[in-house]
Amino acid sequence: MKALVLVGGFGTRLRPLTLTTPKQMLPIAGIPMIEWVVGRLAQYGVDEVILSLGYRPDAFIEAYPDQTCAGVAIRYVTEPEPLGTAGAVRYAALEAGLNETFLVLNGDVLTDLDVGSLIDFHRSRGAEATIALHRVEDPSAFGVVPTHDDGRVIAFVEKPPRDEAPTDLINAGTYVVEPSVIDRIPAGRQVSIERETFPQLADAGSLYAMAADPYWLDTGTPQLYIAANLDAIAGRRVGIQVEAVSGTVAPDANVTNSVVGVGSTIGAGAEVTGSVIMSNVIVGEGAIIRDSILMHDVEVGTGATVVDCSVVGIGERVSPNQAVNAERIPLPD
Ligand code: GTP
Repeated sequence: MKALVLVGGFGTRLRPLTLTTPKQMLPIAGIPMIEWVVGRLAQYGVDEVILSLGYRPDAFIEAYPDQTCAGVAIRYVTEPEPLGTAGAVRYAALEAGLNETFLVLNGDVLTDLDVGSLIDFHRSRGAEATIALHRVEDPSAFGVVPTHDDGRVIAFVEKPPRDEAPTDLINAGTYVVEPSVIDRIPAGRQVSIERETFPQLADAGSLYAMAADPYWLDTGTPQLYIAANLDAIAGRRVGIQVEAVSGTVAPDANVTNSVVGVGSTIGAGAEVTGSVIMSNVIVGEGAIIRDSILMHDVEVGTGATVVDCSVVGIGERVSPNQAVNAERIPLPD
């Protein structure tokens, strides 16, 4: 089976992390996000992944020049302009010549979903498309998907007000799709799968959904990006063990519940907690980094503090004793 992975979005909510790096090339505990997503598909019989590229396609092509990602064969399809989540599926599926049942994945969702059982469910219902569902406390930021008992989708409601959400089951960003869906997506303009294609399929009675309860995280915001990293080092992902600290930590520095990337150094007396420090970062003596993200090549001066979900972009410098509190450096537009 082939899988189409959507990785063309601008990742605006993560800026400045995504100012030059596409979201799916950001590291999760040192490994690019796309490898976490693609690497687990082979066990479900996926023999080729089509990457639907838009923003910064070169970042992917340079990283995987031999067209293999995490041991899986990949093919690149780059959109001439952003086509939206359904427009991208149509464009990439036609370019890749998909003419059998295929998978579609949001490239910024990390999950241990049993894709095999989703495919079985899809086939058992004779569905045109099947969505994996995940239960959340507050569904208002997601596509909310009420179903009949057999899984047939009643409606697809994108981002309803919290008190109007018909269920707490949301679109988990993994779909099994029949080629007939491609014909339903209009050509030549931006089309959202969430706002147009799924509601249309629900009205046609051919959209199904299956609830499951595996690890699931949408990495769209800095808080969630930190959470994805901390989950990875805490061993919350099935079958994957990664190192938390690959850099150098001074003997009397205190690093807890954090990722410290290759080539980074944490100075004497510094405190790092609940944070993601990418590669080749210098954290000066006595500095405090708490619940924040430092990208590659950042330098934090002696005694500085970077706290409360601050994000410091590639190569930026925090001066000695500077206090950075819930800030993004540089400021996104
Ligand atoms: P924000 O700008 O922060 O909303 O992020 P995003 O648009 O990058 O991601 P969003 O969560 O809205 O999209 C879900 C998935 O679809 C992500 O993996 C995106 O990379 C991808 N995506 C979104 N829009 C497009 C598009 O127009 N083309 C392609 N190829 N992929 C897209």
